[in-house]
Order: sequence, then structure tokens, then C-alpha cells
Amino acid sequence: QDELKDAVAAAAIDEIAPSLENDTVLGIGTGSTANLFIDRLAALRHDFKGAVASSEASAERLRGHGIEVFELNSVGSIPFYIDGADEVNAHLHMIKGGGAALTREKIVAACAETFVCIADASKKVDRLGEFPLPVEVIPMARSYVARELVKLGADPVYRQGVVTDNGNQIIDCFEFMIDDPVAMETRLNAIVGVVTNGLFAARGADVLLLGTSRGVERLTP
Ligand code: A5P
Repeated sequence: QDELKDAVAAAAIDEIAPSLENDTVLGIGTGSTANLFIDRLAALRHDFKGAVASSEASAERLRGHGIEVFELNSVGSIPFYIDGADEVNAHLHMIKGGGAALTREKIVAACAETFVCIADASKKVDRLGEFPLPVEVIPMARSYVARELVKLGADPVYRQGVVTDNGNQIIDCFEFMIDDPVAMETRLNAIVGVVTNGLFAARGADVLLLGTSRGVERLTP
């Protein structure tokens, strides 16, 4: 799987490299696949301006490679957001947030012109939900939100000991298969106390680079 992740990281470099300019700021995701992408991006650091990171961990890794990290509010357009996923379907709707970075990932992705999802073949599913859907909550609302999630059919489990970069908590929704990701994303966002849910459907990926045993497949919605 690590080889497949590295293959898609390399394919993502090929995808974006021709578009890089001196003033380009890239959006960078979080996780093991994104880390491999960051490591490969280091070789191109003189070909673009810098990056906006979706987590403190990715920001640190970028800086470690000599890539400048910018605050999102100080940046104009972001041509590409490159990130992994926990699950992705044929419409390039995703579940994300296994690494608890979902809120910043969703914000940076929203600002990007093109979302390039990089994933190994194990992440591709027909129906989202086998991977427990993460929901970031304001701490004082955790029990209330959990009760609302039960009403929707989920088995919510508090991710003990995890505090997000935003100071919030995570509930993972088990036993929660999702038939209509766009509708469910909106519905979950309407629960008071929910900061973000890990469904990336209203704004899914634009390109999926999927690492398979036959090579990297390039898929679009
Ligand atoms: C981080 O919060 C997640 O959304 C990651 O993008 C996701 O967990 C993918 O991680 P890996 O690349 O490590 O599988």
C-alpha cells in the first residue's frame, strides 16, 4: 500500500507541475499519502511560492522541506488542493477526517479551483460509510450531537483523547452507510454544535489519482 501511495504522490506531482508559477500557492492536505506528496514536492520548491496547510502537522513537514507556509487569509487563489481520503466513491464524494483534520481540509478545499484526491485502491468504495464518518463537534455539544446522530441511525463513538487543531472533539459514526452523501452532508451540518462532518460531497474531488496494482488510474466525476 505504501508503494501505491507513493505512486499516486508522484502522479500528483505530474498533474500539477506544468501549472506551477512563481506566485502559485498550493493547498496541502493531511495524512500519510499527503506526506508522501509533500516529500516529493520538496524537489519543486523553487518553482512555486508556497503552500497553505490543512493541519499543523503538514505545515511543519512543509517548513521542514523549506516550503513557505501561508495563512489562508493572506492568500488569493489556490489552483490545486492535494489530499488523501479515507473512502472515495465513483462520484468522487469522499469520507475524510480519519486524521482529525477535516475542518481545515474542508476550508482549504473550498478555496481551491481543483481538488486532486490521491488514494490507494483500498479507499475506493461503491457506497460510503464502511469507514466511520468523523464529525467535529464543539466540546460542550458532544452528548447532544451524539443523541442526534443516533436518531439518524448512526452508532456514535467519542474519539477519546483527540483534540482537533481547532480545540474541538471528534465523534466517529459507526454502522452508518450513506446513500445520498450530498443530502447527508447538509443534514449533519444542520445539527447545532457540529462544526464539520467528514463527508466531502457538495464539494467533492475534481480528479482522483487512484493507485492500483495495474498502475495509477486518473478518474473524474
Ligand atoms: C485526515 O484528516 C484525513 O482526511 C486524511 O486525508 C485521510 O485520513 C487519508 O489519510 P491517509 O493518506 O493516511 O490514508
